[in-house]
Amino acid sequence: MRTIEWKDGVVITIDQTKLPMKEEHVEIKTCSEMADAIKTMKIRGAPVIGVAAAYGLALTAYHSRAQTTENLLVEIESCAELLRKTRPTAVNLFWAIGRVLNKAKQVHGNLENMVNAVVDEAQRMANEDVETNRKIGENGAKLIEDGDGILTHCNAGCLATVDYGTALAVIRVAFEQGKHVRVFATETRPLLQGARLTAFELKRDKIPVTLITDNMVGYVMSKKLVSKVIVGADRIVKDAIINKIGTFTVAVVAYEHSTPFYVAAPKSTFDLTRLSKDVVIEERSPEEVIFCGKQRIAPKGINVLNPAFDITPLKYVSGIICETGILSSAEFKKLAA
Ligand code: MRU
Repeated sequence: MRTIEWKDGVVITIDQTKLPMKEEHVEIKTCSEMADAIKTMKIRGAPVIGVAAAYGLALTAYHSRAQTTENLLVEIESCAELLRKTRPTAVNLFWAIGRVLNKAKQVHGNLENMVNAVVDEAQRMANEDVETNRKIGENGAKLIEDGDGILTHCNAGCLATVDYGTALAVIRVAFEQGKHVRVFATETRPLLQGARLTAFELKRDKIPVTLITDNMVGYVMSKKLVSKVIVGADRIVKDAIINKIGTFTVAVVAYEHSTPFYVAAPKSTFDLTRLSKDVVIEERSPEEVIFCGKQRIAPKGINVLNPAFDITPLKYVSGIICETGILSSAEFKKLAA
């Protein structure tokens, strides 16, 4: 099954907060349920939160009782406003909302046409995501050599997308091509997307994976166990890539060991209008740091900092793997300029 699916006015997804202990599917029927699922990270990962937001707008249109296109547009715009407030960093969310709103605004007068335009656009975006990821996988697999040890951080797999993944698509295609690869998955504190999701996906697909804690990255690189790093991204701006907290540390350690550091992401993650200083880095609840799962691991009243993402300057990036090919940092800078 895809990570997220539309079925007759209901969105079905897997609750990622329960993995790998439970594979529980949830049904989402309203825009506010969708906003809540994104905020609480039942649905997480940049590409899939974009598609989820598009489906949130589709739910509003599909179930609306508005009698005119003007009133329907007001409802869709208020749903968009709610969705925009869920998570600030991944640009895919804002890109997807903008794309669906544009489609809706092109329809005048006919209510049914507007509903169909919104639902169809959300569906199209879900399908495009799968195709795009497959292309990212095919482009990136050209970089992978037999015997590579590949380190990845967080989860940029099928769970973070509609299917296939971005960083993990590269690994999947290389594996399908018969290349022997071993993946090192960092656990990714505080919410453990690496341990819970990347390890789960790769193990299920029988791709060799070794789990390490975040503070083992220097050790595995110094032991020459890693020949490439591939991560995803939440936003790629003119001067940097923004991804899960800890990515910057991984990039610096890779640079120190002359280990190539690649970013795999669709062009919908590019935000060529901004510099990293202009991006809001999401700050999440201190509870995520104070607790590991349900277990408290720090004293009561402790001060906590919990940024969900960090900023890796382009200097550390060997290439950006996207659906149209692989861009070097220099090529990317040219594009951004
Ligand atoms: O907080 P999350 O789990 O939504 O963060 C996800 C990441 O940082 C991923 O690496 C990124 O979204 C790329 S997913 C293809």
